[in-house]
Amino acid sequence: MKGVAILISGGGSNMLKLVESMTGDHPARPCLVLSNDPGASGLARAAKLGVATAAVDHRPFGADREGFEAELNVHLERAGADIICLAGFMRILTPSFMEKWSGRMLNIHPSLLPKYKGLHTHARALEAGDAQAGCSVHEATAELDGGPILCQARVDIAAGETPGSLAEKVLHLEHQIYPATLRRFAAGDRQRRDWKSDAT
Ligand code: GRF
Repeated sequence: MKGVAILISGGGSNMLKLVESMTGDHPARPCLVLSNDPGASGLARAAKLGVATAAVDHRPFGADREGFEAELNVHLERAGADIICLAGFMRILTPSFMEKWSGRMLNIHPSLLPKYKGLHTHARALEAGDAQAGCSVHEATAELDGGPILCQARVDIAAGETPGSLAEKVLHLEHQIYPATLRRFAAGDRQRRDWKSDAT
């Protein structure tokens, strides 16, 4: 059984879907929900589900990213994490942290990567006049929002779409593809399998 640590910075709706998915014959279990923000509302939501939680406030570390990450690693190792899922974790991690967890870390990003790495993905898709938007689960590597894509889901952009309405549609897809991709990743499947809305 693999231990999964989920890193969050906010409400953690993806985190909740991941936690809820890890039951029964799933090859993994949540071992820790970890946030860089002690006030992240996702921490209380995770605790309510009986998952261990911790916070490492990045602010006292200032520019000392290595010091911050060393503390993250203390928590991750103590919890017995085999896999890390980044789920709305809003800190950029150093190449040495990424290297340490290489092949064992997933991220979800609200765009059809390689389009729109970074922030404001939905506004950028609308500004570009794209016909479709979506989300990607990928292996996290030292390149921001880079790394092999394991799954993408697409949604049509409707007339009159706003960044808010698009975010809502895409988040609904995120909640489906992240648990499904984690499940097969934890079982050793690293192939890219894009999402079909009628997939079971
Ligand atoms: C999601 O859109 C995720 O893709 C992005 O940040 C958002 C986090 O939402 N990186 P939540 O905290 O999982 O609700």
